[in-house]
Amino acid sequence: MPNNLATVAKLLTHGVYVIAVKDDTREHAFTAAWVMQVSFDPPLLAFSINPQHYSYQILKAGGLCSINVLAHSQLPIAAHFGDSSIRDKMSGYSWQPAQSGVPVLTEALAYFDCVLSHVTPAGDHEIVVCQIVDAGILNNGKPMRYSDTDNLDGADDLYR
Ligand SMILES: Cc1cc2nc3c(=O)[nH]c(=O)nc-3n(C[C@H](O)[C@H](O)[C@H](O)COP(=O)(O)O)c2cc1C
Repeated sequence: MPNNLATVAKLLTHGVYVIAVKDDTREHAFTAAWVMQVSFDPPLLAFSINPQHYSYQILKAGGLCSINVLAHSQLPIAAHFGDSSIRDKMSGYSWQPAQSGVPVLTEALAYFDCVLSHVTPAGDHEIVVCQIVDAGILNNGKPMRYSDTDNLDGADDLYR
């Protein structure tokens, strides 16, 4: 692996999102940066998820997620949902149900309400492809960029 990849990878332009998941009994959410649109028709988004995340189990069981766009001022939210030691992550935040029933983060800039389409292996992650069934703007503001988060996700230690 190139020895400067931790620095150069930060120049790939990503936003920062809270991805909320739901099954019959559980709701949970995690912070993600590796998110992109991959199709117009049908409208598909893809994101990369570490299958060790608690959110992954719930996503596979429930087949639903909301992708919530964070504002550049919402770094504490990115940190909270990026911390896997917090099991009851949803409390203390305001949620509203999307059309599919999955929770949407009320203070996000915007959301996509998605249904799982398929999952593809990608090294130590999996690529989740999901279909957008609804979307909306919630608040005004500028989106956060992944490069604004410095090493919040600890990625610098993972390029080796
Ligand atoms: C800024 C930032 C970006 C992240 N991007 C991703 C990502 O794209 N995919 C991923 O699987 N984890 C990503 N993470 C890590 C997860 O958010 C983190 O491991 C989380 O605690 C997993 O939650 P869970 O185990 O409670 O489901 C990111 C974390 C941060 C802080």
